[in-house]
Amino acid sequence: MTRTPIVVLISGTGSNLAALLSAAREPECPYVVVGVIADRDATGLDHARSAGIPTEVVRLADHPDRAAWDRALVAAVRALDPQLVVLAGFMKLVGPQVLDAFGGRIINTHPALLPSFPGAHGVQDALAHGVKITGVSVIEVDAGVDTGRILAQVAVEVLDEDTEDTLHERIKSVEQPLLVDVVRKLTTIR
Ligand code: GAR
Repeated sequence: MTRTPIVVLISGTGSNLAALLSAAREPECPYVVVGVIADRDATGLDHARSAGIPTEVVRLADHPDRAAWDRALVAAVRALDPQLVVLAGFMKLVGPQVLDAFGGRIINTHPALLPSFPGAHGVQDALAHGVKITGVSVIEVDAGVDTGRILAQVAVEVLDEDTEDTLHERIKSVEQPLLVDVVRKLTTIR
């Protein structure tokens, strides 16, 4: 069985990456994770290392400007030759070079029901607004901040006693299977 190669970009603990890797171990999984790239020494890289998957860190601070960093990111992803690029907790906006190289083949997962609460603080912003329902969105990446086409969403109830951490953990517990499901669908060759 030929599996579709995907690359995952992360910045954090990588629980979504871990879910993608775990599903990839199933015999009928339609995708294979061929590399994981981070913009910092993300603890989540350990999930890839222990699975024997190549990792690379492409730091903004190691480049003279954002355009140079963006070009380095394109080179790192291109070297792995993926069909799909998955942003799984990647906390930087990708720039025009990345969109030119992989446009239409990049997806992102976001911990809120877009178009509400885009950006880096989706959970905190939803709590601060006092919404009673929030959730997770998996979207296509375009040039805006979390403005791409919505591929899938799941709602999560906000509890009175929720803190950002407790709410984010409940969101992650539905986010991980949702992301795996979307990636499976996008990588199934019909
Ligand atoms: C996830 O909840 C993801 O939706 C969020 O970061 C978390 C990463 O968790 N992304 C964003 O907020 C992007 N704006 P993880 O490192 O455990 O997968």
